[in-house]
Amino acid sequence: MKIGIIGSGNIGGNLGKHWAKAGHEVLFSSRHPEELNDLVRDAGGDAKAVSVAEAWEANADAYLLATPFWAVDKTAELYAGEYKNKVIIDATNPYPDRDGEMAQEVRDGNLNSSEYVATRFNTARTAKAFNTIHAEHLKERAFRESDKLAIPFAAQDETSKQTTEQLIRDIGFDPVYVGDLAATKDMEVDHKVYGKSVTADEMRDLLGVR
Ligand SMILES: NC(=O)c1ccc[n+]([C@@H]2O[C@H](COP(=O)([O-])OP(=O)(O)OC[C@H]3O[C@@H](n4cnc5c(N)ncnc54)[C@H](OP(=O)(O)O)[C@@H]3O)[C@@H](O)[C@H]2O)c1
Repeated sequence: MKIGIIGSGNIGGNLGKHWAKAGHEVLFSSRHPEELNDLVRDAGGDAKAVSVAEAWEANADAYLLATPFWAVDKTAELYAGEYKNKVIIDATNPYPDRDGEMAQEVRDGNLNSSEYVATRFNTARTAKAFNTIHAEHLKERAFRESDKLAIPFAAQDETSKQTTEQLIRDIGFDPVYVGDLAATKDMEVDHKVYGKSVTADEMRDLLGVR
């Protein structure tokens, strides 16, 4: 798959490296793509660093959204129309200390943060994944043959579900489907499975899903 990484830090950078290692074509982007050369070199394969606009224009099969939460509104505003029907995997979390008032409003509001992101990217197919795992575990515990860590995920439709599930599996984690975006409460900051590095069976027990 061709994968556009929007925000190439702890989460986007490490996921992009894993996907490149798994044979995917990875486009790393940020506001400063000229600073991503080391990442591109480490990723190897077909990885490239591009601007955020170029990443959208590249018509990737899936996009990972891994910016600070405050950037969600701006990103959606700038690239509206470019992402129609695209799969967007949202790994963001709202933290008011970092992201300001809009993050507090989302935390206090009626929508899960994944639903908020989906409303902003309203013509895309949005999934939620990789927001609950510590960056260090994401980096160090991929590609395990046994004792794989579970990645809980949710998706808006069948295409985003299948794409996200495959991309979790390809890098040696175990996908655990939670449901649609309305079911992501347990994945939110400080909720039931946030920060939990456990196996798929343990994750299903925590979430009460089978
Ligand atoms: N760290 C964790 O353990 C962890 C775990 C799960 C989920 N998350 C969530 O994942 C997201 C990313 O976290 P992180 O730890 O990877 O952050 P990070 O290391 O600070 O990386 C953020 C990346 O986003 C880029 N960026 C910032 N504003 C942008 C914009 N407007 N457009 C495009 N790119 C932009 C930054 O580069 P430039 O500044 O050069 O643009 C940087 O590449 C956050 O929402 C976080 O809450 C983090």
